Amino acid sequence: MKLENSKILVTGGAGFIGSNLVDRLLEQDNEVVCLDNFATGKRKNLAEALKHPRFTLIEGDIRNEKDCAKAVAGCDYVLHQAALGSVPRSIQDPATSVDVNIGGFVKMLFAAKEAGVKRFVYAASSSTYGDHPALPKVEHVIGNSLSPYAITKYVDELFAKNFSDIYGIETIGLRYFNVFGRRQDPNGAYAAVIPKFVSSLIRHESPKINGDGSYSRDFTYIENVIQVNELAAAAPTSQIKARLQQYREATPGVPESKEGGGLAEVFNVAYGERASLNELAEALKEGLSVYDPKIKHVEFQYGPARAGDVPHSLASIDKGRMVLGYAPQYSLRTGLEEACAWYWETLSV
Ligand SMILES: NC(=O)c1ccc[n+]([C@@H]2O[C@H](COP(=O)([O-])OP(=O)(O)OC[C@H]3O[C@@H](n4cnc5c(N)ncnc54)[C@H](O)[C@@H]3O)[C@@H](O)[C@H]2O)c1
Repeated sequence: MKLENSKILVTGGAGFIGSNLVDRLLEQDNEVVCLDNFATGKRKNLAEALKHPRFTLIEGDIRNEKDCAKAVAGCDYVLHQAALGSVPRSIQDPATSVDVNIGGFVKMLFAAKEAGVKRFVYAASSSTYGDHPALPKVEHVIGNSLSPYAITKYVDELFAKNFSDIYGIETIGLRYFNVFGRRQDPNGAYAAVIPKFVSSLIRHESPKINGDGSYSRDFTYIENVIQVNELAAAAPTSQIKARLQQYREATPGVPESKEGGGLAEVFNVAYGERASLNELAEALKEGLSVYDPKIKHVEFQYGPARAGDVPHSLASIDKGRMVLGYAPQYSLRTGLEEACAWYWETLSV
């Protein structure tokens, strides 16, 4: 299901995930508004969008009510991506992560409710599973949070549910699992693992693995994330509700939703397979050796495991499949092929 001919606000639209959403939505004849304060986002991510007549950039902050209200005016949907990502950043400076990820979230959600949007779809996180050991992760079984970042993302889910109950706004939270792909920033102290490894390998420098490399992740290619955002916004409410009932009947332990409240659901967004960091390292060496055979011989170094990191992560994507029709098209391997090509073109000059 494609999102077409609508007006959509993408917050954090200058970032990695947001800018990819912006470009796809513009291709599909939507009018797109981007609200971003460029805290981590980049103007160059919007190079194509800025040439488009149906694109509006609002340079502003989700912590400012006026910016939120201006950005969401007349929009059918919100795809809320703006936040400060990274577990280590939130350990270094918890107050700012809380301010943006919770304070800003609530302001944006409230503005969306005031503007009467059809649905508020937001970036939640796999970090919400915290210390719960069960694999694969199912949406209704979570553990204790392991970082300030994880707490902020979980609190957002609570607010989304609460606003949906009291105001009737429809919300869908997408718990992203380690997203990767074009435009994910390789620079800075808080860079994600794939771009960080890629940029080191291209320079023939040994990337550093935190821990012994056995930690595993369900790596999710950006195209799968775009697909599910569109489904989460466009799926008709009656269809979601009917399919949720079927999902509950098929899945033991899923709680009943409260009568009378609006729609407020969360879904895992992943591929549904996991790879260890050692496996990822090998796949990246292989993927980049196509461009530079010397990369095959670059060795990885190992350091201590990092505070706040979840050891293993693997999603059940049954709920998204059944309820939204989510069918991820890209595995880690096929996603890495595209991502390596993009990074090679962008970084090897
Ligand atoms: N990348 C992942 O693997 C992953 C995993 C789980 C969840 N998420 C969530 O997905 C969303 C997008 O992440 P991303 O990887 O694209 O990160 P990103 O840092 O590339 O994008 C975030 C964007 O939000 C903007 N922003 C930050 N604070 C803002 C503020 N106060 N007002 C307005 N704009 C602000 C930034 O400038 C940036 O453009 C975030 O909510 C993140 O927590 C990402």
